Amino acid sequence: MFWLFKKKKKDVACSVINKEEACFNDAVAKKILESIRDEFGLDYSKQEQITMRKIERFARKNEMMNFETLQRVLRESPMMKEQLVNMLTVGETYFYRETGHFNILADLMQTKSMKKILCAPSSSGEEAYSIIMYLLENQKESLPVSVVGIDVNSDSIAAAQEAIYSERSTSLLVQNMRQNYFTQESKHYKLNENVKQYATFLRQNIFDDSLFKLGKFDAIFCRNMLIYFDNKEKKEVLKRLHKILNPNGTLFLGHADIAFIPEGFEKILTAQGHYFKLM
Ligand SMILES: C[S@@+](CC[C@H](N)C(=O)[O-])C[C@H]1O[C@@H](n2cnc3c(N)ncnc32)[C@H](O)[C@@H]1O
Repeated sequence: MFWLFKKKKKDVACSVINKEEACFNDAVAKKILESIRDEFGLDYSKQEQITMRKIERFARKNEMMNFETLQRVLRESPMMKEQLVNMLTVGETYFYRETGHFNILADLMQTKSMKKILCAPSSSGEEAYSIIMYLLENQKESLPVSVVGIDVNSDSIAAAQEAIYSERSTSLLVQNMRQNYFTQESKHYKLNENVKQYATFLRQNIFDDSLFKLGKFDAIFCRNMLIYFDNKEKKEVLKRLHKILNPNGTLFLGHADIAFIPEGFEKILTAQGHYFKLM
């Protein structure tokens, strides 16, 4: 692809590529961002310029010469929309992140039945598998639980299902855990069936009502996603999670996720961190 020049008109970046003029109008990019926010809750208003340039790169990579074409294609092609959302939602995650919550879960399981656990969002699976590994480490027997992981990013869901991890993502695990639960393949660690068997993963937008078809859960981990949403969307997600928790259910949120107590929940403080109990 040959770029002849690039000039900036009023909020419109243009360039000539193979004799065709590409013009990217920020007003249209803002409309695309608005529709992403309406459908997926993702609020990029604080990183608007960076995000618009990411979307521009995405359009150019797909040989589109302007945002208007991208806007039309996104309306017509769910696959293109999925790819754009995948590009925007690459989230950081790793094994044994904020383990205090796993400890609380293990303690609660001593006295109440916690059969169904939801990780929303699961990203590439590290959190869901960490919960299982933590319980296996502490109970040393087969587990009476199943963990469902959901995420809007289909690449992350595919990675969770494949379950092959890097040195970096497993760096908080002690050596004998790597030995017990993974098979080393060159520089990567392939998760063994003894952990994988307890988890399933599926692509799911938390704002889509198909969420309610997943049934009810005894515990929900919703960590490090609400930070992407504004207060209105945070409250909407918490309302949805409230609906899919069983009576007495437990909700774990990341420490930076919200600065209020969600409606219908009681906040419980412990030495290991806090969690929310359904009222
Ligand atoms: C930083 S990761 C958190 C992963 C894991 N819970 C953790 O704490 O390590 C945030 C994830 O939220 C997902 N996400 C963002 N918006 C979503 C939505 N509307 N529905 C479902 N998942 C979403 C992203 O795809 C990303 O994988």
